[in-house]
Amino acid sequence: MELSGKNILVTGGAGFIGSHLVDQLLEEGCFVRVLDNLKNGKLENICHHDKKSNFEFFPGSVTDPFDVAQGMKNIDIVFHLACLGVRHSIKHPFENHRVNAEGTLLVLQEARKKRVAKFIHCSSSEVYGTAQYVPMPENHPTLPCTVYGAGKLAGEAYARAYHTTYGLNTVVIRPFNVYGPRSHHEGDAGEFIPKSIVRVLNDEPILVFGDGSQTRDFTYVEDTARGLVAAAESDDAIGHTLNIGSNFEISIKRLAERILENAGNSASWIQHSESRPGDVLRLFADSNIFLKMTNWQPAVSFEDGLVKTIHWFKARPEKASALFAQEAGVNW
Ligand SMILES: NC(=O)c1ccc[n+]([C@@H]2O[C@H](COP(=O)([O-])OP(=O)(O)OC[C@H]3O[C@@H](n4cnc5c(N)ncnc54)[C@H](O)[C@@H]3O)[C@@H](O)[C@H]2O)c1
Repeated sequence: MELSGKNILVTGGAGFIGSHLVDQLLEEGCFVRVLDNLKNGKLENICHHDKKSNFEFFPGSVTDPFDVAQGMKNIDIVFHLACLGVRHSIKHPFENHRVNAEGTLLVLQEARKKRVAKFIHCSSSEVYGTAQYVPMPENHPTLPCTVYGAGKLAGEAYARAYHTTYGLNTVVIRPFNVYGPRSHHEGDAGEFIPKSIVRVLNDEPILVFGDGSQTRDFTYVEDTARGLVAAAESDDAIGHTLNIGSNFEISIKRLAERILENAGNSASWIQHSESRPGDVLRLFADSNIFLKMTNWQPAVSFEDGLVKTIHWFKARPEKASALFAQEAGVNW
């Protein structure tokens, strides 16, 4: 399906991945509406599109039927990314479930009512829990460790059910870990790479929770966003559940060392503390089905992506100390 000229709704489009997706969809010549309540999203991620006639920001929640109905008016394709994060789920399981699972059901129901042509559901590798074997194909058991992972699994199950029962053209994408500019360093949204960069820029130690042997498969955010676009373009992807990873596994300890090496600050160091409850120990994607179906390939190497991310944080208008003040250390 050609996306150019289509009317597209991106839920969570003011967030980290969503805002990069919005950039790419506008480049493709789409009309893009963002539905986001700015719980973790930021206007600064999308305000460079403010004056474009093919861009609209609709502040609202995916848990509010009125907002969802308004947001989906005249929409051809939905990219559903709105969510609350993994660490948020540890303290606030019910709120997390309401947005990630019930919110998804509400958005699916409205998409069915409005007969949208395609629904791309952004799930997560967290649905798998810790790898039982690697690399992990889509039929690897799904045994999530957190309410976040469980809620994302419910959301993707609803998306598949809407395909099977109501014929909605859904595609479920499971991105593995994503990093890059606009990633969150702050509060409970803070992820390991941005938090560590901010800490190093402030001569503070990188916090590694546990022994650091946990591994992840990281993809640069522009590549993940391109993957979501490719999923929408591919009619073969309809009805499928597909991994997007980089075929690159790295331990958190090694990653911390790479951040120290690349940030150019010898005053920082690595400090271990207690493991995070529900932390997944190993994630490494097998994305072969997606690669064959769409010809998608990650374009940015981890080395380059990490340097780009560090540069982005160094170029922030705020002082490094102001970013550090927003960083929560143990953030669950
Ligand atoms: N970042 C990763 O490493 C990663 C990995 C795998 C999957 N994902 C998935 O990608 C998607 C985007 O994640 P992200 O990393 O960009 O997170 P993010 O927090 O930056 O984006 C989520 C957006 O949803 C918005 N939101 C939250 N509650 C909402 C509500 N009730 N109504 C409307 N909007 C709401 C937030 O304000 C935010 O802008 C999510 O679905 C997430 O599960 C992320």
